Amino acid sequence: MDQTTKPEAKKVMLSGIQPSGDLTLGSYLGAIKNWSERAEEFDCYYFMADLHSITVRQVPADLRRRTIEQLAGYIACGLDPEKNTLFIQSHVPAHAQLGWVLDCYTMFGELSRMTQFKDKSRKNAENINAGLFTYPALMAADILLYQPDYVPVGEDQKQHVEICRDVAERFNGIYGDVFKIPEPYIPKVGARVMSLSTPTNKMSKSDTDPNGCVYMMDAPEVIARKFKKAVTDSDTERCVRYAPEEKPGVSNLMSIYAACTGKDFAAIEAEFDGLGYGAFKPAVGDAVIETLRPIREEAQRLIKDKAYLESVYRAGAEKASYIAEKTLRKVYKKVGFVAR
Ligand code: TYM
Repeated sequence: MDQTTKPEAKKVMLSGIQPSGDLTLGSYLGAIKNWSERAEEFDCYYFMADLHSITVRQVPADLRRRTIEQLAGYIACGLDPEKNTLFIQSHVPAHAQLGWVLDCYTMFGELSRMTQFKDKSRKNAENINAGLFTYPALMAADILLYQPDYVPVGEDQKQHVEICRDVAERFNGIYGDVFKIPEPYIPKVGARVMSLSTPTNKMSKSDTDPNGCVYMMDAPEVIARKFKKAVTDSDTERCVRYAPEEKPGVSNLMSIYAACTGKDFAAIEAEFDGLGYGAFKPAVGDAVIETLRPIREEAQRLIKDKAYLESVYRAGAEKASYIAEKTLRKVYKKVGFVAR
């Protein structure tokens, strides 16, 4: 290579997942699949959002176990820790520190409009804590510390990335260009995977119906059973056709099949023309089994190697802290804190 031309800096991608439940097919198709497919192209930061998880009560031992297993899941999905920065959110104090600063630049009215806050307060009526309310300011801090270009998330997190942009623009408007304004990066198919048992609800790791949610670590026979039981629609035509309003169950299965096989809806309709739901549901199950099989096998292998996982999250915290602290110092200076 010509020594005088500097290679162009890679664009930055950043995202996180709460270890408040095991990784699901929703988090895989909505987020991680996009991360791993672009890991070579971007400079990537991915973390386990443990600080966010305690907005809802957790069993401490389970939270610890899931945080580590989630890291194994990230690596098994193809995120090479040598090329991507993988870390635990609570290991980088700058998240909480910038989170506080951004609390003071995020408006009560904005936070009150967040659909996730409304949903979670309904589900946890006995524990509507301040953290649940100010959560988007912490998420904005998670993002802005690393000055990313893109934030790959599922559809349900788009509103949080938008509030992050608003807060960053507000801050920049007062203090000059401190933060890069990030874009949400949402997949074309799989951005909103619905529950298999109630296809009008999002598939969620905290789902109380075990048949509604497919976990990344589910054994093949469990996945096959869940898809066989998947609720289809009570329409009379019984044909595989994409119509989310009229046929939410079948349309959800079609989206999952499309995301796993790369086929478009027209090709799927043609493939199952005249075959009905009885043939379609197990085919979707098989496509999911084959998509998740290598990930599950690799994750199971990695989970046993505690020392390796520890070395990954330690190195990740160090790399992440270096970048995060640079941004935090700049912010502290701008708002008028005395340098130590
Ligand atoms: P979380 O943990 O709820 O979900 C993790 C990621 O998976 C996506 N996702 C889905 N996509 C499609 N269909 C589904 N059924 C489905 N369920 C989950 C989510 O959109 C998300 O991308 N607040 C975030 C975590 C977070 C974060 C961040 C993300 C904290 N800080 C900074 C990005 C940047 C959350 O609760 O995601």
